[in-house]
Amino acid sequence: MSRRCFVTGNWKMNKTVAEATALVRELRGLVSMVRDRVEVAVAPPFTALYPVAKALEDSNIALAAQTCHAEPSGAFTGEVSAPMLKEVGCSWVILGHSERRQFFGETDATVNRKIAATVKAGLLPIICVGETLQEREANKTLEVVTTQVKGALAGFAANPAFVIAYEPVWAIGTGKTATSRQAQEVHAHIRQVVGGLWGQDTAAQVRIQYGGSVKGDNAAELLGQPDIDGALVGGASLKAADFAAIIKARA
Ligand code: 13P
Repeated sequence: MSRRCFVTGNWKMNKTVAEATALVRELRGLVSMVRDRVEVAVAPPFTALYPVAKALEDSNIALAAQTCHAEPSGAFTGEVSAPMLKEVGCSWVILGHSERRQFFGETDATVNRKIAATVKAGLLPIICVGETLQEREANKTLEVVTTQVKGALAGFAANPAFVIAYEPVWAIGTGKTATSRQAQEVHAHIRQVVGGLWGQDTAAQVRIQYGGSVKGDNAAELLGQPDIDGALVGGASLKAADFAAIIKARA
């Protein structure tokens, strides 16, 4: 079973339109040669999605949003819906990022509803799970990610195109990466949980990205693990050369 490596850059609340379009123009040139070997996506802030989509036309880089609302439209001041994201050229939506859970009250139940909205709009989710340092130290990592995966996927028929991102909260933006062994252990466990829900055949096709301080110099080791199928990159996706180095680590 071969799972095509998938690397996504999560820009978080960074980049003006001018900065965002300059970044993807540079990135296009750097990653054009990995076309078939690695799938690449970038997730700019909402304001830059449309201009970035234009700047990515005829490229091999896809567009992702960082969240969406669960309803298609309505009185939800400040929110953006999945059909709106589809219209501006997104293919993917990152859901359940730990920063959304921590700062914006997102729960497994809201993530579940947002996945439904995403799929209904013709988009695919990148579903983030991961334990806090406290949970890891209490030996609760596998329990926490099991609950998050089951909660997110509840009620969905098997879908091998869904992507899961394992992002240990303590590794995000801290420079502390999980060791490849720690990450592989959790990835293998997540695949087992998906297998319990959707069967082994689908579980063998679902891609699981690792996220948390991925850089050019640790990417090859992480991406070389049997159950690590790509990366969800924050800080190092903000510079074209740094992000390209991660993409090329697998290519
Ligand atoms: P860093 O790569 O900056 O640690 O961020 C990871 C992340 O949260 C990606 O979604």
